[in-house]
Amino acid sequence: MAAVDLIDRAVDQAREKAEAAGAAVRLLHGDATRLDELDAPGPFDLFFDLSCYCGIPLHRRDAYAAGLTHRAAPGARLLMFGYGPEPLGNPIPEVTSWAAGVTPDELRARFAGWELLDVTPGTNSVPTFWFTLRRDA
Ligand SMILES: C[S@@+](CC[C@H](N)C(=O)[O-])C[C@H]1O[C@@H](n2cnc3c(N)ncnc32)[C@H](O)[C@@H]1O
Repeated sequence: MAAVDLIDRAVDQAREKAEAAGAAVRLLHGDATRLDELDAPGPFDLFFDLSCYCGIPLHRRDAYAAGLTHRAAPGARLLMFGYGPEPLGNPIPEVTSWAAGVTPDELRARFAGWELLDVTPGTNSVPTFWFTLRRDA
């Protein structure tokens, strides 16, 4: 199992949590839109994105999708939680180009070779979604 984050502190916190839970996770400090620069060749059966993609600048999203597609086993799942496109401000000052949220239509267009199986609204006070995508077999 591997996990990626752009921010050192997030990786450090994840390491502490993984150790406390006894979970064997390879924690990588890097850019999820540049997976070729990381030691995460895959293939993977499952990807989990909790509110990362929806903050990635639009011009880097094709690279994100390509990176996952390249590493996905046939039939792999991508479970994603994301904020909708409404303006939310920037909760992560280190990520200076806060982007436009995510919609079902954008995921369908962006993730060629994947099927959007399910969209479940979140329970937040602003529009959020839980997405399930499946890589073609
Ligand atoms: C809203 S936070 C969610 C953090 C974590 N998933 C959680 O629920 O506690 C979004 C995370 O995505 C990371 N992130 C944003 N852009 C990224 C990128 N291009 N590559 C890797 N991580 C990124 C941020 O550093 C931040 O830790």
